[in-house]
Amino acid sequence: MDDETTSNQSAPPDESERDPVFIYEDKIFQREKLLDVDHVPESTERIVGRDEHISRMASAINPVLFNSPPTHLIIYGKTGTGKSLIARHITQRLSTEAARENIDVETIRIDCGTRSTEAEAVKTLARKFNDEEITGVSVPEKGLGTGDYYDRLWEVVEQQCDVVFFILDEIDKLKSDEILRNLSRAGEDNNVTNTSIGVIGVSNKIDYSDTLSERVKSSFQYEDIVFKPYDANQLREILRKRKDAFKDEVLSEDVIPLCAALCAKEHGDARKAMSTFRNAGKVAREQDKEKVTEEHVYAGKERAEMDRFNELIRGTPPQGKAILLALTLLTEKTDSDGHSTRSIYNAYEQITGQIDMDCLSERRVGELLEEQDFLNVIQAERTSRGRGKGMYKEHRLLEETDIVKEVLVSDSRFDNWR
Ligand SMILES: Nc1ncnc2c1ncn2[C@@H]1O[C@H](COP(=O)(O)OP(=O)(O)O)[C@@H](O)[C@H]1O
Ligand SMILES: [Mg+2]
Repeated sequence: MDDETTSNQSAPPDESERDPVFIYEDKIFQREKLLDVDHVPESTERIVGRDEHISRMASAINPVLFNSPPTHLIIYGKTGTGKSLIARHITQRLSTEAARENIDVETIRIDCGTRSTEAEAVKTLARKFNDEEITGVSVPEKGLGTGDYYDRLWEVVEQQCDVVFFILDEIDKLKSDEILRNLSRAGEDNNVTNTSIGVIGVSNKIDYSDTLSERVKSSFQYEDIVFKPYDANQLREILRKRKDAFKDEVLSEDVIPLCAALCAKEHGDARKAMSTFRNAGKVAREQDKEKVTEEHVYAGKERAEMDRFNELIRGTPPQGKAILLALTLLTEKTDSDGHSTRSIYNAYEQITGQIDMDCLSERRVGELLEEQDFLNVIQAERTSRGRGKGMYKEHRLLEETDIVKEVLVSDSRFDNWR
C-alpha cells in the first residue's frame, strides 16, 4: 500500500486516465471565497455606499472604548441591503480598536430565522460563545428552561469578555421579542453580570418596531437605522470591488453591468447580485469555458433565484409545499396574481387527491398560509369584496411561478406536476 502511494506521488499524472466527469483546474475563479454571502471583507475599500450607516453605528457602540455602555441598535431593510455585513464589519472594527486599549470586545451572531423561540435563541447564544475549557460551564442542548439558559449565558459572558455584542439577525422571525428586554436589562444590572452588553437587532421588515410589545417598547432603549436598496450604480460598484474573485481576463465586459442591471430592476438586492455573479462563474466553469459571458449571467440569475427560494422554504413540511404548489398552479392558470384562501383550498384539495396525502381542513390551510406570509414566502393582503360585503384575504407569490414550481416539483412527491 505504502509503496503504491509513493510511486503514485512521484509519477507525473497521466492525463489520458483522468475521469472526464471532473475538471482539473479552476479556469474561472482565483478567490471564489470573496463571493460568499457571509464573507466580511477585511478592507473597507470593498464596502460601497454605506459610510453614513457605518459612522452612525460606530457612534452608537463607541462608548465601549471609554468604559460606558453602548447604545442598542435595530437596523431594518430589505434582503441584500448590507445589514448583516455592516453589523459584522463595525463590531469587528470596534473589537480591533478596543483590543489596543486592553478591552476585550466579543460579538456573537445568531440567525433567529432558524431558532424561532426565545429559549432556542438564548441557548444558541450561550452554546456558540461558550468555551467550556475556559469557563467550566456546560450548556446542554436540551433540558434547561429559558431562565436557566440565561443564567448560563451570563456566567459564560462574565468569564469570557468585558463587552459583548449580540447580533440577532432576522429578529423579525422570532416569535417573541422578550429577548430584547432580557438582554438589555441584564446589561444594566451589575448583579447579573459586569460585562457590558450591546444588542444589534437586524430585521428584514421595515415595520418591525411597530410590532414590538409595550413591555419591550418601554424598557428597551435603542436607535434605529434604515438600509435602503441599492441602485444599479451601487450594485455595479459592489461587484467591481469583488471582481478579483475571478481570474484576470475571465469576465467579459458586460457581465458586471448586466448582473447589476438585472438585480437593480427588482429591488436593489446586493445578495442576489452577488450570487448571480458567482453563479454565472460557476455555470461557465461547469461548461468548461474560459470566459464568463452574458448567457452565463442569465443562467446564474435563475440559479440564484432557485437557491433563494429553496432556502426560504427549507423546513416547510410537505403540507405547506402542497399549499404553495396550489397557489403556484392558480397563479399560472389565471392572470390575476392574488388568490383567496377558498380558491387555494380548492386547488390544494385536488393536489392532495391526486397523490397519497392527507387533506387538511380549510382553516388549517389558512393558518399555514399565514405562516408562509410571516416567513416572507408569500404575501397576504386583506381585500374588500366591495361595499358592505366584508373583507377577505388575498395571497400572492413573491417569486416567479417558474422558479417556485421548479423548486417544488423537485420534491418527488410532486412528480405529477413536472
Ligand atoms: N455596501 C456593500 N458593499 C459591498 N458588499 C455588500 C454591500 N452590501 C451588501 N454587500 C454584499 O451583499 C451580500 C448581501 O449582504 P447582506 O449584508 O447579507 O444583506 P442583508 O443582511 O441586508 O440581507 C453580501 O455578500 C454582502 O457582502
Ligand atoms: Mg442579513
